[in-house]
Amino acid sequence: MLKAIILIGGPLKGTRFRPLSLDIPKPLFPVAGLPIIQHHIEACVRVPDLKEIILLGYYPSSDLMKFVQEMIQEYKIAIRYLQEYTALGTAGGMYHFRDQIRCGNPTAFFVINGDVCGDFPLLEMCEYYGEKDALVVVAGTEATRNQSVNYGCIISDKNTGEILHYVEKPSTFVSTLVNCGVYLCSLDIFQILAAVFKKKEEERVYDLASSNNDSTTIQLEQDVLRPLAGTGKAFVYQSKNWWSQLKPAGSTIYANRHFLQLYRKRHPERLRGVGIQEGNVKQIPKIIDDVFIHPTAFIHHTAVLGPNVSIGANAHIGPGVRIRESIILSGANISNHSLVMYSVVGRNSKIGAWSRVEGTPCDPNPNKPFAKMDNLPLFNSNGKLNPSITILGCSVSVPAEVILLNSIVLPYKELSRSFKNEIIL
Ligand code: GDD
Ligand code: GTP
Repeated sequence: MLKAIILIGGPLKGTRFRPLSLDIPKPLFPVAGLPIIQHHIEACVRVPDLKEIILLGYYPSSDLMKFVQEMIQEYKIAIRYLQEYTALGTAGGMYHFRDQIRCGNPTAFFVINGDVCGDFPLLEMCEYYGEKDALVVVAGTEATRNQSVNYGCIISDKNTGEILHYVEKPSTFVSTLVNCGVYLCSLDIFQILAAVFKKKEEERVYDLASSNNDSTTIQLEQDVLRPLAGTGKAFVYQSKNWWSQLKPAGSTIYANRHFLQLYRKRHPERLRGVGIQEGNVKQIPKIIDDVFIHPTAFIHHTAVLGPNVSIGANAHIGPGVRIRESIILSGANISNHSLVMYSVVGRNSKIGAWSRVEGTPCDPNPNKPFAKMDNLPLFNSNGKLNPSITILGCSVSVPAEVILLNSIVLPYKELSRSFKNEIIL
């Protein structure tokens, strides 16, 4: 039997995801029509022997309860939310709830960062784990030399896959093989966590000078992977599947496109157009693949959607509207002949007629093999906003006949004119 833990963090994490995480916890933000971590759950459910999924984080449990109930009903699998009393680090929560994780004696358990997305190679990792005498198997992927330093970097034995050296976000180049934040761990890892915890607690208690009363945090990367490197107990499973982080709000557009592409293989029923019955004639808007449309959304038959568009529940898309490479959230209303591209339109936001809402794609450089998204900071060295996906928070109102370009608009803002390269507070 296997289990899975999804690390979802808490309100203090995911700050770069604002303003999209102001009205909904980041792990529940919908990409390709489903909350981010529902994609993780679906990946776990495909592993035949996996019997329980634990969401581990420090959001108030009231934020997650409804979602957990819905997931249990939908996938008929045990799913629980375990709440850390404070941020305990990427492995501190696992140690704190060790009895719950060990309960039922699973042969191994997955740990998946809630802020990554991809076609997780979980089945392949299980097989690989079976071939090794491993305490932990880490999913790894190739990155470019420059980008690799933003991740955990792995030096491995090319023949055996053993991790020889691990450095978390080094300041200079170490390796282009990076940690995907997806692990398969043996229960024996708790012995290491116990030793780390004991050592840190002793340091904390005797560290009188700094009067450090913080709780003991344990990081899976620095406190477990790094010391395990070179001991013959940690291995890397190198995957060529699509994988990306979900850090700034704009990264959802890239993830949206790839999840929609995965639906072709796994859930073609989710990719469909809508038909509108008018008299005896069924009129269908023009759809350019891939597009996800929630069944309750209204799309006028003269609208043109796609490629790579997701439309949420009860959204209303008027006549002549053109949308591409965008996420339109539930209840949004886009009036006649407006254009939306490379943008996220927040819940219940309104865009007036003949307006243009446009962002700049921030995809990985297609000419560089293994390039990942750059996750640029909001501002460049000249203090100017880096051109990026346009983001409208929830309940924003954009008037008719304006242009909104490369901008971020905070929730509930009523715009009165055009904006370009601005954060509208
Ligand atoms: N439950 C819980 N408690 N979860 C946490 C906590 C915590 O205290 N702190 C972080 N997390 C969760 C985050 O929500 C996220 O899903 C994941 O753990 C990783 O956290 P970060 O601290 O943001 O690390 P990172 O994303 O910069 O780097 C990690 O992921 C990279 C891949 O995306 C590292 O594992 C890197 O080595 C790795 O390359
Ligand atoms: P030990 O490795 O246990 O002796 O301690 P340390 O203080 O060197 O640990 P550290 O966290 O610095 O990282 C472990 C090893 O990773 C180092 O010995 C370096 O070889 C390597 N390393 C750490 N940071 C960097 C870095 O920024 N650049 C490069 N090239 N290597 C690094």
